[in-house]
Amino acid sequence: MSKKEFKEIVFPPGFLWGAATSAHQVEGNNTNNHWWVWEQEGGHIRDGSVSGRACDHYNLYQQDFELVRELGHNVYRFSIEWSRIEPKEGKWSEKEIEHYRKVVEALLERKITPMVTLHHFTNPIWMQDKGGWLNPKSVDLFERYTRTVVESLGDLITFYNTINEPMMVAVMGYLLGLHPPCRTDLAEFFTAGKHLLMAHGKCYSAIHETVRDRGFKIKPQVGIVKQIPYFAPFNPHSEEDVKQAKLMDDIVNRWYLEGIQTGTVAPPFGSGEKLDYLENSWDFIGVNWYTRILANSTIKLEAEQKTLPQTVPEGAEITDMGWEVYPEGFYHSLMSVKKYKKPVYVTENGIATLNDEQRCRYIIRHLYQLHRAIHDGLDVRGYMYWSLMDNFEWAEGFAKRFGIIEVNYNTLERKPRPSAYLYRDIIKRNAVTEQQLQKYSVSP
Ligand code: BGC
Repeated sequence: MSKKEFKEIVFPPGFLWGAATSAHQVEGNNTNNHWWVWEQEGGHIRDGSVSGRACDHYNLYQQDFELVRELGHNVYRFSIEWSRIEPKEGKWSEKEIEHYRKVVEALLERKITPMVTLHHFTNPIWMQDKGGWLNPKSVDLFERYTRTVVESLGDLITFYNTINEPMMVAVMGYLLGLHPPCRTDLAEFFTAGKHLLMAHGKCYSAIHETVRDRGFKIKPQVGIVKQIPYFAPFNPHSEEDVKQAKLMDDIVNRWYLEGIQTGTVAPPFGSGEKLDYLENSWDFIGVNWYTRILANSTIKLEAEQKTLPQTVPEGAEITDMGWEVYPEGFYHSLMSVKKYKKPVYVTENGIATLNDEQRCRYIIRHLYQLHRAIHDGLDVRGYMYWSLMDNFEWAEGFAKRFGIIEVNYNTLERKPRPSAYLYRDIIKRNAVTEQQLQKYSVSP
């Protein structure tokens, strides 16, 4: 490819650039949630680890935010841990609320915009004991927790994510049984999905109402964070593969997004009931993106196989998670939300790899596709790499490293990888240069 075919890509003015984490994956000692309990049972986490003190971000956040500032980020996405705020049902911890106030203040002091996630996979033990997301009361319990957070911190926060990847919570926890509570029951999957949709809607209005009632001088922006994998047929000529890809897309992606847009809890999760508080309950859409999933109908799964009937093509580049690297799919998933006419933030996109050069290439190639979507009319306002630092990758443990900052788990030392400096350079210019595109052979 000749040099002149590459052209610098420039992002919109005021673009938010940063990285994301979640409480349980980085804070350490979140002893009061259902993941912690599950980890202690043993035998569940692939590399034999438990979250333990993780990155000790709970204590080291000031130092971490110094690094974030040095790396030029202007936004930081993180989650507030429900089990810390409400350790027992209806009992609120002033100490932990104060902690998160300090966290938010520490960001603001450094001119880093906080983007706060209210639920990122973990439930307080007491909430799980009451049936978790299967209990219809989970919706109101989540709403009450939301109100408490916003009453205490709402004068400082503009950006809220209600629930991180609700459909992954439902799929992994209730359909495939790979995350706690490890259920594999279709009816429970539908029930959990329905409550996770309703909880989003209630959370959305709770935030807006609380900010208004308290007279906070802030205009909150509230959105869902939805992982939108790109589903496609393994064999585009197979009717069955096409059908399966569409089914997966409908169930995992469309049902939830359409639910928010229309306010309807459509079958098979609900019975088509219309909920006023749910309709149009988003100010923006948070998109998490990792990979393409190719539906392969020739794969017959055994009952105990905990996966979807999918294939990674021969010879494809894969990540340490075994996921296909397919940047073009990012473009398609992004464009699939254009019809909702909402601002979009990429709330997660990243790669687990021990090869940082592969991470650099992944970032550049995905930013190229992101820019394509912007060029084609999608209103994208920010990008957050997953993750700021290596962390506890759920059922995979600590072996999978997603960070642009490397963490030494013995000494807790942080060391930005070369990708962190490449990213800093992009942020500084608000652009990816021709040379960078050329180096990673991103075709125009
Ligand atoms: C989650 C993160 C997770 C990442 C990589 C997303 O599903 O929100 O918590 O670490 O993907 O698996």
